[in-house]
Amino acid sequence: MTRNPTGGGDPTEETDTDSETETVATAVADAGTEAVSCAGLVYAFGETTAVDGLDLSVHDGEVFGLLGPNGAGKTTAIRCITTLLPVPTGMVRVFGHDTTRERMAVRRLLGYVPQQLSADAGLTGRENVVLFARVFDVPRKERAARVEQALAAVDLTDAADRLAKTYSGGMVRRLELAQALVSAPRLLILDEPTIGLDPIARTSVWEHINAVRAATGMTVLVTTHYMDEADQYCDRVALMHRGRVRALGTPDELRRGLGERRGAGKNGELPTLEDVFRDIAGSGLDEQSGDFSDVRSTRRTASRVG
Ligand SMILES: Nc1ncnc2c1ncn2[C@@H]1O[C@H](COP(=O)(O)OP(=O)(O)OP(=O)(O)O)[C@@H](O)[C@H]1O
Ligand SMILES: [Mg+2]
Repeated sequence: MTRNPTGGGDPTEETDTDSETETVATAVADAGTEAVSCAGLVYAFGETTAVDGLDLSVHDGEVFGLLGPNGAGKTTAIRCITTLLPVPTGMVRVFGHDTTRERMAVRRLLGYVPQQLSADAGLTGRENVVLFARVFDVPRKERAARVEQALAAVDLTDAADRLAKTYSGGMVRRLELAQALVSAPRLLILDEPTIGLDPIARTSVWEHINAVRAATGMTVLVTTHYMDEADQYCDRVALMHRGRVRALGTPDELRRGLGERRGAGKNGELPTLEDVFRDIAGSGLDEQSGDFSDVRSTRRTASRVG
């Protein structure tokens, strides 16, 4: 059985007609609104408060990095934004649409690459993308062309008829990117898109994201533990710790801010984004659930399907 990327219903069912009563008209996002807007978001798993009063705005068209140590609440926040988790307290909007009241309108606007694998090892690359095209309601007449476009956008056309279990970790991540892009999202959400990949594969994933973004103007919300990637590719970043945003700005602003607080380093160099991260997360980095290398090795194992 194939995995259902939206977390509900049978992915093999046709979804041209939604059972929900929302009209397609609600999917027309308001121009000029924030891509994502969270206010006072709280989400708890039993006794564990994973998100604890999150306020966050992602501007239309930017690449926004959500950073934070293991257990900071990034994935939980993202799952609320994607409508995969309900919003018990607070407000979350995507291009002005409320994730609680306009769930399908929100889903139509976004593509999502989850932290866990979303590709099916037993299907070919093309079959995986077709599955997502159906789940994400790509009109039947447009499906074939959109699938080919998505595969081409991540350079998988030649490998499209191979089973996903024969792909390298980098190819799997690009396939997952194609799955998320097939619905032509205005907002692409990527949870740890490059974890466990070698430097060349990491660069390749980012180059493909940037090429699609340049062509379409889509907004990108990404989590990563790689501070160098956040520094290089994100317009703004938020550092999240224990369920809340503790610092927000461009990578440069955050580095300069720490530099001013600490005084100039050796040779007048600015602190790195990793220094900023350590300054905010402090000892919580190792206290929670492992350090960067643990996460990388976990994903390295997990990033090979099959
Ligand atoms: N399904 C769940 N059931 C119970 N607790 C959960 C569940 N998912 C997450 N948590 C807890 O919620 C907190 C936040 O987890 P979350 O996965 O959102 O963090 P994260 O910032 O994405 O971490 P990572 O960097 O490791 O991916 C953690 O304490 C985690 O143990
Ligand atoms: Mg996570």
